[in-house]
Amino acid sequence: MGISQEEYDSLIKPYEEALTIIQIRLNSLNAEYRSRSREYPIHNIQHRIKSKPSIMKKLEKKKLPVSAAVARDELTDIAGIRVICYFEDDIYSVVSAIRKQAGILVIRERDYVQNPKENGYKSYHIVVGVPVYRLEETQYYPVEVQIRTISMDFWASMEHRICYKNGKNQEVSEEKRAILKGFADELKKIEVSMYQQT
Ligand code: GTP
Ligand code: MG
Repeated sequence: MGISQEEYDSLIKPYEEALTIIQIRLNSLNAEYRSRSREYPIHNIQHRIKSKPSIMKKLEKKKLPVSAAVARDELTDIAGIRVICYFEDDIYSVVSAIRKQAGILVIRERDYVQNPKENGYKSYHIVVGVPVYRLEETQYYPVEVQIRTISMDFWASMEHRICYKNGKNQEVSEEKRAILKGFADELKKIEVSMYQQT
């Protein structure tokens, strides 16, 4: 078992297409927001296709056979987009705009803004299904969209660097976790104070 370079290349092709379609939609949404008002919600948009080692590692972590077919059937984050907003309300404005996109399905939603994870992680996750057209048929491919504020992104990036990498974060002490959780609360306060200046 394993995934060869050729298998990886053909696995990701439709995901690249799906990602491009979502990027185009989000970019034009962003342009429209910016032309309409100075209170535009989107700071920036990032994207990535999951690398071969990351796909293999994730399948191993999920105790699944490591193959391109299993990756296609089981992983919904091979294509990922991150929309970084300014304030919490902006997240919901972007989410509702995504929901209104014609031809795009909402496959799964997780609101870790209203319901943060134990460790303090916050973000709105929405997995969308994007139609990829082929001669014979149309298939929907998932793109994981993560929508978060600048301060949530700062926290998540730091936390990822500090602990997320190693499976279940075993070697991160209770003390360190509590400190990180505290930072999430402080960042939220700073964001709200910033909002009050607008
Ligand atoms: P994964 O197996 O990690 O994909 O989790 P999941 O399938 O239960 O989905 P979930 O929506 O919880 O998380 C998906 C993605 O969100 C992850 O791949 C990370 O990019 C991000 N994420 C989730 N939890 C955390 C966290 O505690 N810290 C950080 N830094 N990122 C997180
Ligand atoms: Mg996931």
